[in-house]
Amino acid sequence: MIKNSSIQQVMDTMRVDEVLGDFLNLKRRGTNLLANCPFHDEKTPSFTISPTKGIYKCFGCGKSGNSVTFLMEHENISYIEAIRHLAKKYNITLEETEASGEEIQKSQERESLFILNEYANKYFQANLHDTEIGKTLALSYFKERGFSEKTIRDFQLGYCLDMRDELYKNLKRDGFKEDYIVKLGLAKKYEDESWRDFFRGRIIFPIHNLSGKVIGFGGRVMGNADKTAKYINSPESEIYHKSHVLYGMHLAKRAIPKENYCILVEGYTDVISLYQAGVENAVASSGTALTIEQLKLIRRFTENLHILYDGDKAGIKAALRGTDLALESGLNVNLTLLKEGHDPDSFVREFGGEALKEYIQKQSSDIVTFKAKLYREEAGQDPLKRAELTKDIIHTISLVPDNIKRSFYIKECAILMGIEEELLSRESQRVINQRRKKQQMDSSRNEEFAAEYTSNLEEIEQSIEQLSEYSSNLITVEKELCKILLEHGNKPIETNQELDNPFFDDVTVVQYIFTRYIVNFEFESEICKKIFYHIKENYEEGKSYPLVHYLHHTDAEISSFAIANCQQDAESLMDWNKNKKNKNLKIKQYGENYRIEVDQILQQVKIAYLEKLGKQIMTITRQAIGENLEYNEDAKKYLLVQLEYLELFKELRENSNYVFRKLIK
Ligand code: CTP
Ligand code: MN
Repeated sequence: MIKNSSIQQVMDTMRVDEVLGDFLNLKRRGTNLLANCPFHDEKTPSFTISPTKGIYKCFGCGKSGNSVTFLMEHENISYIEAIRHLAKKYNITLEETEASGEEIQKSQERESLFILNEYANKYFQANLHDTEIGKTLALSYFKERGFSEKTIRDFQLGYCLDMRDELYKNLKRDGFKEDYIVKLGLAKKYEDESWRDFFRGRIIFPIHNLSGKVIGFGGRVMGNADKTAKYINSPESEIYHKSHVLYGMHLAKRAIPKENYCILVEGYTDVISLYQAGVENAVASSGTALTIEQLKLIRRFTENLHILYDGDKAGIKAALRGTDLALESGLNVNLTLLKEGHDPDSFVREFGGEALKEYIQKQSSDIVTFKAKLYREEAGQDPLKRAELTKDIIHTISLVPDNIKRSFYIKECAILMGIEEELLSRESQRVINQRRKKQQMDSSRNEEFAAEYTSNLEEIEQSIEQLSEYSSNLITVEKELCKILLEHGNKPIETNQELDNPFFDDVTVVQYIFTRYIVNFEFESEICKKIFYHIKENYEEGKSYPLVHYLHHTDAEISSFAIANCQQDAESLMDWNKNKKNKNLKIKQYGENYRIEVDQILQQVKIAYLEKLGKQIMTITRQAIGENLEYNEDAKKYLLVQLEYLELFKELRENSNYVFRKLIK
């Protein structure tokens, strides 16, 4: 473990502009620096770095932090790894102490998950190659599909025996934690404590990360999938994020830069077949639309994407899904459709890899041309349909970030669709301008929102500090409130004859409390809540009772609270109505002024309640900050809640008596 003093030294030395400058293209803006945010996709920079404060904040997506958190997120490394990285950068020698067991365990959890997956991977391969049933059922299935021994080994294909909990038992025997087994979805625990292997009876396609470690599995039924899903896949886990992965990339990453294009197919088996046929630059998105992360992954190796899908309607639809995003991310998008009845797997099995490469060469078109041709067929002479589809193509063209490429697309499209080039160019420019304007508006609105939101949070934080100095435990305060309601509820709030205040003379404690009670207060204590609303109901019906009524209440909860908490002296047991007639007696006996006491209790209730509310708002909104700080419907709601709270706080501060005001300033 690294010594605290060493960590401090790193913290003192690191400079946010130098650290982030290694990864981002920083531009100076006043005392701050600006960059395109690495955590979300944007064209205009809203990622702001403050060298003086040593922090960054993105006004687009809300991400914020310091040099260390940046490294952790951007490089996907642990805290300690980030410190080591910084130490290396600044030539600081880290002094180490021995790590505690717990720390080692924590930092090794990811590692353990990898080890566990690798164990399962070996187990599945052994099932396939070394068991009779694996050989006769699964290996022969792979062979039937034309996969060679080498291909099967290269992709580490496997088989999971169709036994209840064989894998689980093995894992258990070799000391793997149940927790990890569940996290990786390798086996499931049932209510009766029995375990079931997840991939029972399926052939296994391990899914690898870029460096070739197994992060998850896909399991296919052999033969037709009538009764059950054809594929089941590992759940998302700390090491498997489906949307970040492209199947086969760990092998394809060598061939893609060489060929300078990446082929995208639909299925695991397509990737494998192509690979075997010598087309090694193919990956699969595993049946989902392309994500930003996957596109970024492709862009690390090439700018050129070739989508290769079946030629049927479903194939076309699937192929077009995600192309807009791909264009936006700066990829050159090309599509090739196979003849009806073929998928990439069956094509190479019938005609071979070279034929596929040729076919792609001949048949592929860039996305704009592809759409233009498709629409020419689809729209025919129908003018309305043509107009609609033209709009869509213009939208697609407008997504191409590069000007030169865009003008090339416009030329081509004009010819194909028989539309004037100038018109197309003007229209696409208009769409681009519109989008830019909207983005600018969004980002300035986001900026404003972020500023207001964070300053509110600061104000709330300060208010909580002030409140907490003066607040008492909520339950205690609630009890006090109920006590005075029960004990003195129907007594006059003020009995000061000298002042001879005609108003307060007739107002009872109950009346005073319920007319002055503004904060919509949520009780912590169930019994207090019950008593409070019970008395309130009575009051609203014009009834108000002395303590004796509650001491003998039919509701046992109420009576026992009253007995336990309220004074049962002689005076409170007297019939109040009788005394009321005799004012002198009242004054002599009760010389109290309830108003001060009641005011104080009410104030304490409000303070304690506001403190609780403020803390809740902090937690909720902090979580929101962690996610997204875009101005949208949710953001509006959060702002409103913040403002309402601050309003209550100000009101309390202004209407408070001198003591409290001084405390709360
Ligand atoms: N897929 C899935 N779950 C399903 C069906 C499909 O996860 N129930 C994913 C798999 O990653 C699969 C891809 O979508 O590889 C494409 O589906 P499909 O073409 O049906 O699968 P192939 O891999 O081509 O399988 P096969 O050729 O054996 O039918
Ligand atoms: Mn297939």
